[in-house]
Amino acid sequence: MTTHPDYWNRLYEEEARPGWDMDGATPLVAELLGLALPLGLKPGCDLVVPGCGYGHDAAELEALGFSVTGLDFAPLAIQGAMHRYGGRVAWSQADWFATHLGPWAAIFDHTCFVAMEPGRRPAYVQACADHLRAGGLWMAVLFHDVNGRPGPPHAMPMAELRSLSEASFEVLHLGEAVNSHPRRSGREYLLVARKR
Ligand SMILES: C[S@@+](CC[C@H](N)C(=O)[O-])C[C@H]1O[C@@H](n2cnc3c(N)ncnc32)[C@H](O)[C@@H]1O
Repeated sequence: MTTHPDYWNRLYEEEARPGWDMDGATPLVAELLGLALPLGLKPGCDLVVPGCGYGHDAAELEALGFSVTGLDFAPLAIQGAMHRYGGRVAWSQADWFATHLGPWAAIFDHTCFVAMEPGRRPAYVQACADHLRAGGLWMAVLFHDVNGRPGPPHAMPMAELRSLSEASFEVLHLGEAVNSHPRRSGREYLLVARKR
């Protein structure tokens, strides 16, 4: 059951480096910030990385000057993040659907939304809206193609994301990623959306 932390914790237990872990931040951190800053992302603002795993993206964002919370409900993910990056980031073992730590000015989502069972997508978008202050920005990296494999991750067509988001968000950017990791090239896209 991917909705339960035990599912993910077991994957962290079974492999020192689970299949999704790239041993570093995604190159799309820079690309997504390059899109979001001109669209209103405030340099150095407080942001959250849901499903942060071992914390590579969260640590990279902190190094770039943001005030970062890295959140994951799998205990081994948070332990791994703390081991790698120490206290530079505020690590939190919590469920994205239930946390009361926010709201934040921005969300940086990389392979958390696409890890959700498709039936949870409307609730996930609602959680993103709930965890942002008014006018806050939701940045996300998503897959439109998972090479035909059963999820997670689950492919999400761009049009579906747009229609799921529209009630709570103004979509400012939705388009193909350019600088994906070679293993993911041509299969990822980027979202920047502002909470209404
Ligand atoms: C595919 S992994 C990606 C990890 C990290 N973003 C990366 O790219 O290395 C998905 C992560 O989301 C976490 N996750 C899944 N559902 C969650 C939830 N409801 N609340 C918090 N974390 C969740 C899992 O524990 C897992 O660490």
